[in-house]
Amino acid sequence: QENIPEPLSAKNKSSFAYFTIRDRLPVILSKVADTVYRKKTFVKDIHGEDATEELKFIAGCISKLRNELQTNKPLVPLKDNGPDTEVWNLSLAELTQREGGEPKWFVSPWLYVECYMYRRIQEAIAQCTILHNLDPFEEQKKKAFTDSEEATEVLLHYLRQISEKAASASDDDKEEYLREFLQIALWGNRCDLSISASQENSQTESILDQLHHLEPNILVNDTKQVLNCLRSNVKDRAIDIVLDNAGFELVTDLCLAEVLLMCGWADCIRMHGKAMPWFVSDVTSSDFEWTLDSLFKSSRPSMAYFGELWRQRLEKKSWMFTVEDFWTIPYDFAKMKTSSSSLYERFKDSKIVFFKGDLNYRKLLGDLDWNPTTPFEVTLRGFHPAPLCALRTCKADLIAGLAAGQKETVEKYDKNWMLNGNWAVISFCGKSNQ
Ligand code: F6P
Ligand code: MG
Repeated sequence: QENIPEPLSAKNKSSFAYFTIRDRLPVILSKVADTVYRKKTFVKDIHGEDATEELKFIAGCISKLRNELQTNKPLVPLKDNGPDTEVWNLSLAELTQREGGEPKWFVSPWLYVECYMYRRIQEAIAQCTILHNLDPFEEQKKKAFTDSEEATEVLLHYLRQISEKAASASDDDKEEYLREFLQIALWGNRCDLSISASQENSQTESILDQLHHLEPNILVNDTKQVLNCLRSNVKDRAIDIVLDNAGFELVTDLCLAEVLLMCGWADCIRMHGKAMPWFVSDVTSSDFEWTLDSLFKSSRPSMAYFGELWRQRLEKKSWMFTVEDFWTIPYDFAKMKTSSSSLYERFKDSKIVFFKGDLNYRKLLGDLDWNPTTPFEVTLRGFHPAPLCALRTCKADLIAGLAAGQKETVEKYDKNWMLNGNWAVISFCGKSNQ
């Protein structure tokens, strides 16, 4: 195809990719090493001396990895035998061929090298016998949830009030609920660590009150099209949500799932998480289970109420949670059809697929350097299994679907608009390859 732009990469020193690889990723790796060291006594008490050796092994791998990154070494094939190892090594070979040389941290596509870093952390863990299920980000994720309990209770109390009225709600009311909970899930993507957990914003109990003043920051708002899609398509009754982060954001996604069921737009909500610890805070199956369990056991009434209800939904399969290796391999979504055709086929009977967060958005756009006025549909490059909607706060320097002049206007208000998470898009594409 013509006019496909270049992938974002650290080759451009003024890019966020460069800043991320130079400054942010080494910090993440140091934190992983710290976490591993801090676990020493605990692990020794529970699993004995052999497990301490495994911790040392992981820490060694992490420090080697950080060194490779910081000195721009070539990316090397994976040595573990995970279900995805072969695909990863194949993708590395393809990239080597495309680039006409060994892929390197500061030269190769940003999306690839960033995913590769998380996969290499997993490589170290996967080689352990005792600690092969270790999640180095577990504590951070749990803390993000616990710190936002108050905000969670307020939100769930509100959802409970709505659910009591839902049976008698008019179509207009239902549309209003959807509009609201789409925005809650949208800003949940910004809120996960920054708003809900940090002190100055501890009145985030009022994510509800914030919606109104945040609304003008939604640069593309296709809510109307989403509503049309939900209303018009009566045949398909399953809706997919491709999740992003654990913590408060996951709670907002569960609320969206609840509203979609409650308003009768779907019979089944399929939620998708990650098969391994990913981009620090992404939801794994343990995070998902832990979150539902914490809600269930909470002493706060609305948290406990939905903890119980959502458990039943999972038992009765009106909610499903699955993980697929596809979400943690380096391919962008345009490659789903060929590299994970069964997943692509399953999406075909979805009424709409919601994609949460920045990384999913980068994968929709292929992490390419698009002109911001390129239509969203064009940037998907043929990825149309079903109608889809991205709910994304902007945390990386790429965007699509802006009107002419819009970029220039927002730049005047906020120089850092592409990265600070204060701006967002609700982007819909109705096309589907049925
Ligand atoms: O570090 C890269 C990045 O994709 C950022 O652009 C973003 O801040 C973060 O990782 C992940 O964001 P999200 O959880 O919204 O996908
Ligand atoms: Mg994430």
